[in-house]
Amino acid sequence: MKILAIVGSPRLKGNTNYLVEQTLEEAAKLGAETEKIVLSQYAVNSCLGHDNCASYDTCRQRDDTGWILDKLCQADGVILATPVYYYNVSAQMKAFIDRNYFLYKHDRKSRARVVGIIVVAGSEGVEDTLHTLGQFIGETFKVDEDKIFTVWGYADRLGEAKDNLPLAEEARKLGRQMVASLKMEA
Ligand SMILES: Cc1cc2nc3c(=O)[nH]c(=O)nc-3n(C[C@H](O)[C@H](O)[C@H](O)COP(=O)(O)O)c2cc1C
Repeated sequence: MKILAIVGSPRLKGNTNYLVEQTLEEAAKLGAETEKIVLSQYAVNSCLGHDNCASYDTCRQRDDTGWILDKLCQADGVILATPVYYYNVSAQMKAFIDRNYFLYKHDRKSRARVVGIIVVAGSEGVEDTLHTLGQFIGETFKVDEDKIFTVWGYADRLGEAKDNLPLAEEARKLGRQMVASLKMEA
């Protein structure tokens, strides 16, 4: 059972990364194979909007997005994690979402059977961010609503999520929920 986390925060020791680690550690304890991809560590360029995207065998852009999308398609569970930047997902996450257009234009969907969402805001903008992620999930995954688990909360300065014990526990619960959901289906 493979759970892949795609992280849109560039702060490696930031709140989103901390919560994702809580989720993955919990999932690993229960037997899941886990992987975290922090988008800012790779070349994930923005979509160039080619009219003939559907006619290309591979995306014209030669960056890291291709192999990340392959992993997204092959994982049993996927976590999408982002801080709120100007009332929505971070630029790194948005670039990644847009590059999924290649999958959309080739009728490819991820085989993931469960999806986790982690959103961290300083104070506001969670609703629009969840809406964006929800729309993206609808296009990219074949998962029912009850297989989508969401954790969101408030934290701002570095380390604040770690001090927010209920939020950290929510993140660990997400790991348990995802593994339980996958085991139920196995
Ligand atoms: C460019 C930028 C834009 C931000 N926009 C918002 C915002 O619209 N709403 C909000 O509540 N917090 C906003 N924040 C604060 C972050 O969401 C907050 O610091 C969060 O904890 C960062 O997560 P991280 O530690 O995982 O990077 C913004 C931060 C940055 C750097």
